Formats: sequence, C-alpha cells, structure tokens
Amino acid sequence: MKLKVLMVCLGNICRSPLAEGILQSKVNSERISVDSAGTGGWHIGNQPDPRSIAVARKYGLDISSQRCRKFSVHDFDEFDIIYVMDKSNYENVIAQSRNSTDLSKIRLLLSEIGSSEIEVPDPYYDSENGFEKVFQMIDKACDAIAEKLERNTI
Ligand code: 4NP
Repeated sequence: MKLKVLMVCLGNICRSPLAEGILQSKVNSERISVDSAGTGGWHIGNQPDPRSIAVARKYGLDISSQRCRKFSVHDFDEFDIIYVMDKSNYENVIAQSRNSTDLSKIRLLLSEIGSSEIEVPDPYYDSENGFEKVFQMIDKACDAIAEKLERNTI
C-alpha cells in the first residue's frame, strides 16, 4: 500500500504545489504519492501561480499540470501525513480534525529539519525572490523528509 502525503497551504497555488512537486521528485512514486490542497477556496481548479511554475521549472520540475483544490475533512481519511506550511494553516487544519488519529497526522513542514524558522512564509504578495526563497526552504525540508521516508523513520 502506498504511503500518501498531503501538502497544505492557504491558496494551494504558491507553496503547497511546490512542496508536492519537490517531494514527489525525491521519492519512489511506486511507494509514496504526494498531493496538495489549500485551506482557502479562491483558486479552485486553477494552475499554480506562474511564479511557482517558473521557479520549479528553473530547477527542472514541471508543476503546471497541478490544479488547485480545497482541503476537506475527508483528506484525514485519505492521507497518512499532512504537512502544513505555516501556523495559520496548522490552526485551520487542526480545527477540522475529528479525533486524535486525525490530529496525529498534522505536522509543520519545517519541523522535519532543525530550522530556527518554523514557517514557510506566504510569497503571494512578494517578489520573484520570495518564490526562490520559499523553493529553497521547501527543498531542504523535502530532502530530510525523503530520507526519513526511505528509512521508514517518519
Ligand atoms: P499559498 O499563497 O497559500 O502559498 O498558495 C497564497 C495564494 C493565494 C492567496 C493567499 C496565499 N490568496 O489570498 O488568494
């Protein structure tokens, strides 16, 4: 059975599509599948933000076929691990949890690395440089996550 990982941010057009593409590129897709969703529903059905598509392309990843969807309580049944990008996403997803099993699946993405920063900042109102910074943060976290997944230590 595949391990299923969900990446969650606010809009599901900037950070979590990058996290989905980056982690999926680092793991064996026969064993692990990665999806993403947003806690907000403004962009449902849309492609990722062009700036996320561009920074991913710069590093050899094509995330342009992803489409935005909203996080739903059913995702707790569907996924084994739910990574959130910031504290606001964390609170929002926690608020939708129904029991301790749901709760145990939710983690801040940067909690997987010994980082002084605990949030992947929202780059939506930022410049291209914000997207580069966010890409690097997510990439580092996904390196650590991929290694733990390979070793079954997550
Ligand atoms: P994301 O960024 O949560 O990284 O996808 C955002 C995208 C859109 C909005 C907010 C954050 N928005 O308000 O539309």
